[in-house]
Amino acid sequence: MKKLFLLLTLVSMPVFASGGAHLDEVDIDMNDTASLQRGAGLFVNYCLSCHGAAFMRYNRMAKDLQIPEDVVKDNMMFTADRIGGLMKTTMPEEDAKKWFGKAPPDLSLIARSRGPEWIYTYMRSFYLDEDSPSGWNNVLFEKVAMPHVLYNLQGARKAIFKKNDHGKEVFDHYEMVKPGSMNEEEFDSSVRDLTNFMVYLAEPARMIRTKLGVYVLLFLAIFFVFAYLLKKEYWKDIH
Ligand code: HEC
Repeated sequence: MKKLFLLLTLVSMPVFASGGAHLDEVDIDMNDTASLQRGAGLFVNYCLSCHGAAFMRYNRMAKDLQIPEDVVKDNMMFTADRIGGLMKTTMPEEDAKKWFGKAPPDLSLIARSRGPEWIYTYMRSFYLDEDSPSGWNNVLFEKVAMPHVLYNLQGARKAIFKKNDHGKEVFDHYEMVKPGSMNEEEFDSSVRDLTNFMVYLAEPARMIRTKLGVYVLLFLAIFFVFAYLLKKEYWKDIH
């Protein structure tokens, strides 16, 4: 019993994958189809040019997110010519390495390796940096090779750092230099949609799993009634 408790405590301990940096909470909901659809729209428009999501097929996404196939074909398929094609990037890896110094990784499983909170925080932590080759840096991912691809939505911000008690420069706050087309609340909500979509991308079966869970519990509840009646029947003559 003690061992079981120890195991449960270990499993439920939070994992600090970010090396202790502060991560913002994000509300992930596989039943929020509208959010997943908006997230998919952002993903194909802003991410697929550099990153692939090569474990996903366009028609699978269309089916799971209830997007009509012709809408996907006309508005979302920039990197494949078949609806059954994989969501690959069009950017050759060699060129990407030349341009960014690093090839943008495939994002199929990124929500599982980094976690949704990390992605949600990362996408909202870009700031202008003259010393960086791309002109951008990121508070969560120092010296990141990725530019701020959503800056026309969020706006361009400077980051202000302050010295802490140990004389180390730490992030203090952002200052808006050029506002984007969205205010902070709208942008946070869009990045939540994007993160929600990337969680789906990393585990499409989650859509079915969470729905199936409800049926399984319902079945168990009904089964319990019959099991109980049967038990009463069997034991009725024994005292
Ligand atoms: C212009 C090309 C480009 C575009 C467009 C782009 N990225 Fe990136 N991204 C990169 C590069 C390059 C890296 C590698 C950064 C590094 O390792 O320094 C990266 C890294 C990342 C990482 C971190 C991966 C890791 O764990 O190391 C995430 C998450 C990410 N991108 C998400 C996105 C999302 C979401 C979008 C769309 C909104 C997007 N990217 C659009 C170039 C791009």
